[in-house]
Amino acid sequence: MTLRPVLKNPNDLLRTKAKKVPVALIQSLEVQTLIDDLTETMNIENGVGIAATQIGSDKRVIIIDVNGVMPLVNPEIVSKSLRKIEFEEGCLSVPGVTGIVKRHRAITLKAHDRHGKILTIKAKGLLAIVLQHETDHINGILFIDKVIRYTNPPLM
Ligand code: NI
Repeated sequence: MTLRPVLKNPNDLLRTKAKKVPVALIQSLEVQTLIDDLTETMNIENGVGIAATQIGSDKRVIIIDVNGVMPLVNPEIVSKSLRKIEFEEGCLSVPGVTGIVKRHRAITLKAHDRHGKILTIKAKGLLAIVLQHETDHINGILFIDKVIRYTNPPLM
């Protein structure tokens, strides 16, 4: 496992839409190494989640650490609650900045695990928020695009 530098905003790579990983490649050394490096980087940086986009990879891979480490490949939100909740977020790619974001309170997400098995995750609360934040990353979206009120604003 290798600690990889986390890209900081502004960086065009943080704004790219990542590509789906073909299912046959999930168990390849390249993708398994990416998962291990992301996990190591998230742990060392004390994140609750990280996306491959944040280390400059164009693969749709995220790692979540809410109730244990969960690598997800090709995550896709398939349903979301009408009800939204406000929560204070931060991001390893936007250091020192926090703000309130409104997100769906509950979502259902489909993804592959690191072995290629299909998972359906019904999430609410913090898990739902982290999944939405990380899924945004692989679509080139940062939480600062959605912030409704900064609690620690960016220094200008
Ligand atoms: Ni982030």
